Amino acid sequence: MCGIIGFSGSTDAKNIILDGLKRLEYRGYDSAGIALQNGNVINMVKTSGKVDNLVAMADADTKLAGNCGIGHTRWATHGVPSDVNAHPHMSADGKFAIVHNGIIENHAEIKNKLIQKGVKFLSETDTEVIVQLLDYYYDGDIKKTLVKTTSMLEGSYALGVLCVDNPGTIYAAKVSSPLIIGIGAGENYFASDITAFISHTKNVIDLEDGEFAEISADKITIFDHNFKEIKKEERKITWDVAAAEKSGYEHFMLKEIMEQPAALKATIEPRIKDNKVNFDELNIDIKKYDRILMTACGSAYYAGCVGRDVIEKLCRIHVHTEVASELRYRDPMIDEKTLVIVISQSGETADTIAAIKEAKNKGADVMAIVNVVGSAIAKLADFTIYTWAGPEIAVATTKGYTTQVIVLYMFAVWAAYKLGRIDEKQLLELTKDIKRLPERAQRTLDLNTKVKKLADKYHEKQSIFFIGRYLDYAVCLEGSLKLKEISYIHSEAYAAGELKHGTIALIEEGRLVVAVCCYEPLLDKIISNVQQVKARGAQVLALAVEGNKKIFTEADDVLLVPKANELFMAAVEIIPLQLFAYYVAKNNKCDIDKPKNLAKSVTVE
Ligand code: M6R
Repeated sequence: MCGIIGFSGSTDAKNIILDGLKRLEYRGYDSAGIALQNGNVINMVKTSGKVDNLVAMADADTKLAGNCGIGHTRWATHGVPSDVNAHPHMSADGKFAIVHNGIIENHAEIKNKLIQKGVKFLSETDTEVIVQLLDYYYDGDIKKTLVKTTSMLEGSYALGVLCVDNPGTIYAAKVSSPLIIGIGAGENYFASDITAFISHTKNVIDLEDGEFAEISADKITIFDHNFKEIKKEERKITWDVAAAEKSGYEHFMLKEIMEQPAALKATIEPRIKDNKVNFDELNIDIKKYDRILMTACGSAYYAGCVGRDVIEKLCRIHVHTEVASELRYRDPMIDEKTLVIVISQSGETADTIAAIKEAKNKGADVMAIVNVVGSAIAKLADFTIYTWAGPEIAVATTKGYTTQVIVLYMFAVWAAYKLGRIDEKQLLELTKDIKRLPERAQRTLDLNTKVKKLADKYHEKQSIFFIGRYLDYAVCLEGSLKLKEISYIHSEAYAAGELKHGTIALIEEGRLVVAVCCYEPLLDKIISNVQQVKARGAQVLALAVEGNKKIFTEADDVLLVPKANELFMAAVEIIPLQLFAYYVAKNNKCDIDKPKNLAKSVTVE
């Protein structure tokens, strides 16, 4: 949940690291820090608050100089956000400075042992044990000390280390937290993800679990715990620096909403051969499975809810959905005849990783739908399908979600054909319907101004309900989450038919109900639910499909979205709900890209 960066080169490292931290800030933003090595001295500045606070302090600090250093932006797990708990952490003698992303599960045990040996701790963090261990074991050989120290750690870590005795060199190690190395010209980097240094280099090496790196300006050595050098493949990042910048938009979230037509197209096109959806390259024997279990967290889970309904409808195979944070505690009925589908934008989510492990222990095959190439989840799965959304920076996912939904549609269609549930003609027709979705998404974005006006009208509401039926209900779950997470307005999503079983008690004069009425076979049903809430004084903002005249007599406000195949409407109808959340949050002056208490990658349980 934190972001780390390291740099070694021949220019001043300060601005490079601070710029990298700004780009990594979406990973956590309650405190930040930087340490630079200048000859045999390490200087450090750290503070609670956002990276801008750190920049102001670092700019004013003339001692903070050097061509080599490390930086950190934090999402607190152990210890409140404070100056002292911020990273880097330094040993008392100033010999080591470290940054860490992950959780050291046995930190209390190590801390107690070190305290008994007279070591003094300053912070409440789990991380501090690492720097104290380094200092405790150090015998002049940093590589040996690093290997010994990490062998004591249980949990997850992506670690960056400076040692005064090795000027110009940064060290990195990793287990279960992401770390990528950037290869520049006369300068090299490490970071939690490529966005930190994409403006400097696109050539990278993925550090794997259990590997260590010694990085100087002109040399990168990867080694294992026996100090055996490991030859690594280089990889080139295909997307451009502009993809990770706001490019004139006020917020990443708005930019990413607007990028959806292109992201959908990029995700769809490579999977179409001869006008038919084709996932043959996956080499999945879909006939082998008698059920599918879909698991993920947050919005990715809600994408899974859409996928569940579409796969079940087209494939006539039982699909169950389960939030990944619960799966492992239920002793779920999973076996080798279950295909477990996990969904994750970041590919790092700890709960989703734990669910994969649980599924594999029970003998299931795991298929992952992931956005970040080479991420932990992509590597753990037996089959991986990438969503080609490009980098998603805003904490609230938008294009990440819609591309997940698209992959699930495509998988449903392909699997239905393989299972003999649809014939070739239907395969061709459904493929055509999917290919139309980017254009439908583009036209939906024309609602931007209208949605903005509705947000002006409704942004002061204290509580907003979303209701829908079947696939529309799955979209309501995501629309409601979007609103909550960035505007902090209380919101609930309800299957419209459930209202009368309790929730309707909360409907009162002036309550806003967003009614998603896009699944037309159930239009009469949802309209009757709209009438029920109207009769109790609610204001209704309805989302319906172009051509629907009836809805205008029922709702206070109506947004009409372009028509698509009724099974595939979610990828279109979510867009106005994303825009609504965005403009409500903007009206309420919320920090849209970095909502309070959240971080983009949730790498802790
Ligand atoms: O990276 P992942 O897709 O695994 O993340 C899962 C959730 O944490 C994520 O979707 C979260 O709910 C978002 N903040 C929603 O906008």
